[in-house]
Amino acid sequence: MAGSSNFISPLKNFSVPLMIILISTVLSFLHRVECVEFDVGGKNGWATPSGKNNDQVYNDWASKNRFQVNDTLRFGYKKDSVLVVTEEEYEKCRSSHPIFFSNNGDTVFTLDRPGLFYFISGVAGHCQKGLKMIVKVLEPASPPQAANEHSSAALVFAAPEFIPMAVFVLISSFIGVIFV
Ligand SMILES: *[C@@H]1O[C@H](CO)[C@@H](O)[C@H](O)[C@H]1NC(C)=O
Repeated sequence: MAGSSNFISPLKNFSVPLMIILISTVLSFLHRVECVEFDVGGKNGWATPSGKNNDQVYNDWASKNRFQVNDTLRFGYKKDSVLVVTEEEYEKCRSSHPIFFSNNGDTVFTLDRPGLFYFISGVAGHCQKGLKMIVKVLEPASPPQAANEHSSAALVFAAPEFIPMAVFVLISSFIGVIFV
């Protein structure tokens, strides 16, 4: 009983601003280092879906993932290509001036900003059959200069889901251990 209250009190005494700075530093550090490479389409790679009504295969795949700035997409394919185009060109399944083009069979594309990216195949007919994908990249979490304007709770909830809670618990118990 006495042991558990000892464990809590250092957290109360510990300066809240300092803790916020500590947490946001760790979060932004994690955020920078953790760049994930995604294999587009899993083991099928970037290949024209067979059959009808399969034109959302890659959007389904994309919607199951969380993309952050600086994550990379790896497209593996044969005799095909990867284009990044505008929304309008995506809808038309064609582009005369793609923003990005690659046909080397193993394309790594860096998601270098938040927002939407529109991918299509440049091979005639493939995009129409579903070789196309919209990727949404999440806004980066909590800029450091905003730390003083938010409560610790707001800061934690503004950060990417699932990392902050784990980090918060980790740091809390860490601080607890150090100051007991
Ligand atoms: C993404 O990478 C660039 C260059 O390496 C870097 O300047 C930028 O801060 C990174 N952005 C994020 C949100 O990690």
